[in-house]
Amino acid sequence: MGPVALIVAAGRGERLGSDGPKAFVRCGGRPMLEWSVDAFRAAGVERIVVALPAGYEAPAGCIGVSGGAERSHSVRAALGAAGDPAVVLVHDAARPLVTAQIVEDCLAALTAEVDAVIAAAAVTDTLKEADGHDVVRTLDRSRLWAVQTPQVFWTAALAGVMAQDDAVLAAATDDASLIEAGGGRVRVVPCPRDNFKVTTPEDLRLAELVLADRAR
Ligand code: C5P
Repeated sequence: MGPVALIVAAGRGERLGSDGPKAFVRCGGRPMLEWSVDAFRAAGVERIVVALPAGYEAPAGCIGVSGGAERSHSVRAALGAAGDPAVVLVHDAARPLVTAQIVEDCLAALTAEVDAVIAAAAVTDTLKEADGHDVVRTLDRSRLWAVQTPQVFWTAALAGVMAQDDAVLAAATDDASLIEAGGGRVRVVPCPRDNFKVTTPEDLRLAELVLADRAR
């Protein structure tokens, strides 16, 4: 069985201030989620499982499952409907600018030496750690990556970490961090910064501009 995509789309998207769930907000003329589905299909991924908010249906040809309370719970629910692939890709529906090239690059980077590979962009800002507003230190930017999705896993590795308690999963803001916490090896795949996550109304506007630019 070829790689299976698990697209999590069950978040409410409160910071976007939209009426409905973020993944179904229109972006470039269609529900945001559909851009990601197209990118995975164009990369040859045939089976796509989507974790959904209550009352919403998966795009045609995808398998829909009910999402969970937190993001990782939605990943676990989607994994449950993946079937028996050797490799799974986890992707946030909130990243509609993912491309087939990014999906292909991430799939190609998963080797037997690692447990997971993650799309990430090199950090360009100077980053400081602060206690409240008091700066504690300046971080070494050359070692920092802004992490994106897709994140690609050997299915056995992801299933292993997803078997942990709900509370452990709830604390994770991405899935690779669960692998890292268990001593697993994770590699970054350098990706363009424009594979950003749509969180705010400004992000949505920017995503629409990028999509319009790509269509020209
Ligand atoms: O809220 P945030 O943008 O960080 O969510 C990242 C992704 O996780 C989104 O695509 C969202 O739909 C998904 N999610 C989910 N289930 C949740 C929370 C978030 O599928 N309970």
